[in-house]
Amino acid sequence: MAIRIAYFSWKGHTQKVATALARLVNAELVRIEPPGEFNIAVGAMKAWLAMKSQIRPTKTDLAGIDVLIIVTPVWSGKVPPFVNEYLSAVTGGAGKPFHVIVEMGARGSESAIAAVKNQLEKKGMRFVSSAATVERDVDSGGYTATVEKFAAGITGK
Ligand SMILES: Cc1cc2nc3c(=O)[nH]c(=O)nc-3n(C[C@H](O)[C@H](O)[C@H](O)COP(=O)(O)O)c2cc1C
Repeated sequence: MAIRIAYFSWKGHTQKVATALARLVNAELVRIEPPGEFNIAVGAMKAWLAMKSQIRPTKTDLAGIDVLIIVTPVWSGKVPPFVNEYLSAVTGGAGKPFHVIVEMGARGSESAIAAVKNQLEKKGMRFVSSAATVERDVDSGGYTATVEKFAAGITGK
């Protein structure tokens, strides 16, 4: 089973979650990156307005991929504009399953998951599962149980 994890991370927490998950499910890791410096206040506003922001060219075609996992921070109760850009660029996903993990300070996981879900379902993809991690658990290492449970739901092990 070919699994791709696409993630965005500004301060490293989401990257930690994505990397741990990639090891557990043996997935290809694809980083979503802005082309350069960005203004965080503008980023927060664009997230809130569900807008997109340009990203570096990265793997968006799902040819040869069976499962897509999106790992994203919660921004303004939604997802960063770079993630919206990635989701809008995904091709070849019709009929394929996807999963979502959101990483957050405290709240907004459900609306952030819904934002990803809606965008990929519009492409004919099939939502399977989601999970949320919290920043302080990522800092303390207490997030691993959540990631392990999520991984087991994907690999069936
Ligand atoms: C612009 C911005 C908006 C955010 N909005 C939320 C939010 O609505 N709810 C929340 O719980 N955390 C929010 N956070 C906190 C991040 O989700 C949290 O710090 C996360 O760990 C960041 O991941 P990263 O270290 O991979 O960048 C926000 C952070 C930023 C920078």
